[in-house]
Amino acid sequence: MQATAPFVPPTDLEPYVTADGSVSLRSAALQEGYHSVHGALQESRHVFIRHGLHAVAADPLRILEVGLGSGLNLLLTLADEAVPDRTVHYVGLEPFPPPIALVRALDHPAAVGRPDLRAAFERMMDAAAGDRHQPRPGFTMERRAAAVLDLQEQATYHLVYFDAFGPRTQPAMWTAAVFDVLYRAMVPGGVLVTYCAKGDVRRTLVGCGFHVDRPPGPAGKREMLRARKPIP
Ligand SMILES: C[S@@+](CC[C@H](N)C(=O)[O-])C[C@H]1O[C@@H](n2cnc3c(N)ncnc32)[C@H](O)[C@@H]1O
Repeated sequence: MQATAPFVPPTDLEPYVTADGSVSLRSAALQEGYHSVHGALQESRHVFIRHGLHAVAADPLRILEVGLGSGLNLLLTLADEAVPDRTVHYVGLEPFPPPIALVRALDHPAAVGRPDLRAAFERMMDAAAGDRHQPRPGFTMERRAAAVLDLQEQATYHLVYFDAFGPRTQPAMWTAAVFDVLYRAMVPGGVLVTYCAKGDVRRTLVGCGFHVDRPPGPAGKREMLRARKPIP
């Protein structure tokens, strides 16, 4: 088998405007963006909020994000209308955080229509501000510099936002080694959602024990993947 080259995080990130007007980050060297060119906001809302957050009823709700990046999924979760009534613990894994100046430049709080959340959001995204946050009563956020393979927890998370770079850019993220770790970290009945709809990824998830369905994809994509850890 051919060895996969180690992933080299991008150092040339630049903001770019996606088709719905929301701004994301892109690396020319990787030829990869943090979100879909068809719209960062519509993609995050569709994949992670509509088919993830709104499909899981647990309260308290423990969410793990793999690839916190610029924090758009975190902000949409904090801003979601259904969430204030629930207790949420959000853990964001990000070993290569983008500079806070770039995160500020994207101004996700304006794109989401919640400029009132700007200060709390920027504090959570700023490594210098510490790792544990409570942006509102009942919502805690922990930012970890750990990579997904370092995750030790078992039967902890009800919902996983799997928002890694795509399989072409970072194939090691889409392997059984990673999905086994996530399977162990999830509670029975827990749900993992991702924008990726590739057949090999679906088969790898099934091989790890998940039940997988393919909801319709966000704009520009026919399908996405949602994987549920079965209840024994
Ligand atoms: C598609 S971007 C995430 C976009 C992000 N959710 C947002 O809203 O901006 C993928 C992210 O995965 C991160 N990443 C790379 N290797 C990782 C690893 N081993 N574990 C967790 N995250 C990783 C990258 O640094 C990058 O920020």
